[in-house]
Amino acid sequence: MDAPKNEYVLAGSLDDLKAKGRLVVHGSHRPILVIYDRGRVLALDNRCPHMGFPLERGSIEDGILTCHWHHARFDLESGCTFDLWADDVPICPVEVRNGEVWVETAFGHVDPAAHWHQRLADGLAHDIGLVIAKAVHGQLASDVPVAEIVRQVALFGAQNRDGWGVGLTILTALANLLPILPEEETYLALFHGARRVATDCDGEAPRRGRAPLGSRTDPAALKRWLQRWTNVRHREAAERTLLTAIAEGLSPGALADALLGAETERAFADTGHSLDFINKAFE
Ligand code: FES
Repeated sequence: MDAPKNEYVLAGSLDDLKAKGRLVVHGSHRPILVIYDRGRVLALDNRCPHMGFPLERGSIEDGILTCHWHHARFDLESGCTFDLWADDVPICPVEVRNGEVWVETAFGHVDPAAHWHQRLADGLAHDIGLVIAKAVHGQLASDVPVAEIVRQVALFGAQNRDGWGVGLTILTALANLLPILPEEETYLALFHGARRVATDCDGEAPRRGRAPLGSRTDPAALKRWLQRWTNVRHREAAERTLLTAIAEGLSPGALADALLGAETERAFADTGHSLDFINKAFE
């Protein structure tokens, strides 16, 4: 469905389109709306990207198409929306040949996986459920491995919030279930995990990068230091110590030992969730 095809169909005569202002033709998968606007001939998906109602019922003013149903507004030429909650409308090529209007009947993307990767990034950045839902569906339909989708969302969550959020715990828990879920529920699990991560990050300051220490320090000292900084709630010192342990090549087991040792010093701090946060982070 996402593979572009170069089939054109006759939409009608240019004179007829000028007289009526808009025509609807059958596309390969869905109807296409062809519009004449101030000397331009444009074609776009007739289904509103918000909830699928027909855009042919919309109004056009000054190059802006307004959907009749919930009034999302779109740039006629590009299909891009002014109202991010509604998503962009796919457009398709249109040609005028000897007074006849021809439109390409298939919508598609040259690289569907890359397109839906970017759309997931957009949906996460703006916390828009509709865009996240479409992007997850698009990636699955493009045969992107589920692990890649989880990875994209987890990295977003780690980079766009200065601390672990419950959305990352939910994402990890759902990701653990993916191997036993049927196809439809795989989609739902990925969507709900991604949506919770996006909501956690919405309005939060992004994580600022910190660097490991410049010295080569032995694992026992790093573990002690991590406990020390955790006890006195010195977050930056604890993070630099942990980054140094990672840079020193400590095994995941040794890192987990250091973190869990520090955590048990303050087991009930921060509502007591740090233990399951550490657990899920290592998963
Ligand atoms: S269906 Fe078009 S704005 Fe809702």
